[in-house]
Amino acid sequence: MKLIACNANLPLAEAIADYLDAPLTESEIKRFADNEIFVRINENVRGEDVFVIQSTSFPANDNLMELLICVDALTRASAKRITAVIPYFGYARQDRKTDGRTPISAKLVANLISNAGADRVLTMDLHAGQIQGFFDVPTDNLIAAPVIEEDIRIRYNGDNLMIVSPDVGGVVRARSLAKRIGCDLAIVDKRREKAGVSEVMNIIGDVSGRRCIMVDDICDSGGTLCNAAKALKDKGATDVSAYVTHGVLSNDAVKRVEKSVLDEIVICDTIKPRDEDMKSKALRVLPVAPLLGEAIRRIANEESVSKLFD
Ligand code: R5P
Repeated sequence: MKLIACNANLPLAEAIADYLDAPLTESEIKRFADNEIFVRINENVRGEDVFVIQSTSFPANDNLMELLICVDALTRASAKRITAVIPYFGYARQDRKTDGRTPISAKLVANLISNAGADRVLTMDLHAGQIQGFFDVPTDNLIAAPVIEEDIRIRYNGDNLMIVSPDVGGVVRARSLAKRIGCDLAIVDKRREKAGVSEVMNIIGDVSGRRCIMVDDICDSGGTLCNAAKALKDKGATDVSAYVTHGVLSNDAVKRVEKSVLDEIVICDTIKPRDEDMKSKALRVLPVAPLLGEAIRRIANEESVSKLFD
């Protein structure tokens, strides 16, 4: 097995390599003066089972292009099998036409990855499970739930907990976590009755006096979580925190969380957090390298990965 790291999240790639007790393959990724990307794999990979680790996070287009060019280099170097390990699959939110004459970019990006030569994809908490079907190669979509569940069990005693989906789209994910932990579920239903009229937040479930933990796949601007947290507090929740798989955290999202009624936001390290964000007391990071590393080990050994969903 060969592990190759592109540049989006080197600490995660190194942690996966540590878990597997396998070195990262020597490679170089350079930019030409005009910003074109150049990749050279500095070790023989002929006939090897290769795993390329790259999240397509900010800057999404550069990181995607690095992945595509790296996969192309490996294909032309006669690797036997190439698995694109994409802890965070960017563009996933563009998974359907939302209006006339708009793209389905998630499908386009999936096509690009398999057409570049990836034989398999390993990813985590896709924005919607159906996106697995956008890839015309075998795709394993891991869930961060076991890591999040463990942290919740350590941090909170089960009393009075309520898992909350911050929007209707996340209900399946939140319900599954509530079931794992054995607590109740509430849902924030966000609606804009008319264009130009501010959103109304309805809470489905009685959160009064409850310790609320929101769960979501992505925190981008932080708007969804901060607004939902306020609505929960207004309905009597005693405290509100959030667990998110992918901390996209664009612009001043962390500052927004700091100023909100949220106690903290806990993200997984599928995306490398910015140094300034890491200084915030409102942000905590959970490592997912053991989960990804174990999935890679099992794929390489042709073992089942379904145990990782338990
Ligand atoms: C939406 O469907 C996603 O699950 C997230 O809730 C959303 O992308 C978060 O975005 P933001 O943090 O900008 O509100």
